[in-house]
Amino acid sequence: MKILGTGSSVPQYELTNDMLSEMMDTSDEWIRTRTGIRSRRILTTETITDLAVDAAKKCITQSNIPTSEIDYILCHIIIPDMTTPSLASIINKELGCTCPTLDLNAACTGFIYALDVADSLIKAGKAKKVLVVCAEKPTHFVDWNKRETCVLFGDAAGAVLVGQGGDECYFKLSTHPTDALTCKRIATPSPFYHDKEEVYPYLEMRGRDVFRLAVHNSFEDIKSVVNEAGVTFSDVKYYLLHQANVRILEAIRNELNLQEECFPHNIECRGNTSSASIPLLMDEMNQSNKFSEGDTLVLSAFGAGFTSGACLLKW
Ligand code: ACO
Repeated sequence: MKILGTGSSVPQYELTNDMLSEMMDTSDEWIRTRTGIRSRRILTTETITDLAVDAAKKCITQSNIPTSEIDYILCHIIIPDMTTPSLASIINKELGCTCPTLDLNAACTGFIYALDVADSLIKAGKAKKVLVVCAEKPTHFVDWNKRETCVLFGDAAGAVLVGQGGDECYFKLSTHPTDALTCKRIATPSPFYHDKEEVYPYLEMRGRDVFRLAVHNSFEDIKSVVNEAGVTFSDVKYYLLHQANVRILEAIRNELNLQEECFPHNIECRGNTSSASIPLLMDEMNQSNKFSEGDTLVLSAFGAGFTSGACLLKW
């Protein structure tokens, strides 16, 4: 599998830590030192569908490949604007395509899962080019009265077009059951069913447990794909990790004993954008010409489930 193009889209509105400290009992110092975040982009006038379509269109333009060549559209989104049709179907319509479309949900690990499905479709001969779009609006499922979680997130969409060719990719995916990170949904009213207890429909997180799970699983996943590919940690040009917290990135980097420049990040100005964080970072780096043909990249993400996954691929 080979990456043929990238694209991304973020909302116009920028919410800084200082602005947050005027809304609630928090400070730039607390947020920055614990997470690395200085500001994030938040949906105000746009919808997440707008961002997803924009990222997809930019990706297709950047790849210089006609939309008629897209064989499959895979989207990852935790809370879509529409229950049905899928976000992938909406993007298909906006691009003027008629290919198969599918939405997935693997929480913040979604991009790695979607790439694994895309790679499998390509290997099975069912598709030659697959468009993968991750779009997330976590600012719509955090409780804005809870400073522990609402300061962590931003909204964004990222897209990649992948196709046949390139070197073998290596994946490691797993799920380790835990309730350290959950978000319940209120049942749609029906004369036959109602929630037995009052539902708290916002993200609930045991931050320190998530931190430990993220570092442990990401480290194990990275070791697994690097070993399977028969390379060393220092053969990898960049480790593109889910942008959840700069301290998580630092902990993994220290375990691997690698230089800072191997672990690029944009969490300082984007916040945690869930499954969109890696394709967003990848596109911003691609736009800055950070990648060269043949660079070895390791992607690693983790999220509710507790899902985790890594992928080693060549640019
Ligand atoms: N501003 C100021 N104070 C705060 C804030 C805030 N926004 N949030 C919490 N505090 C206070 C708490 O009330 C607590 O006060 P107390 O000691 O008086 O009780 C104190 O700060 C320490 O709180 P902790 O939760 O223990 O802080 P911790 O050092 O663990 O940092 C954090 C919290 C940043 C969430 C950390 O646990 C973490 O990064 N965990 C990883 C989770 C993560 O990254 N989640 C992202 C979403 S999940 C994903 O993407 C996979």
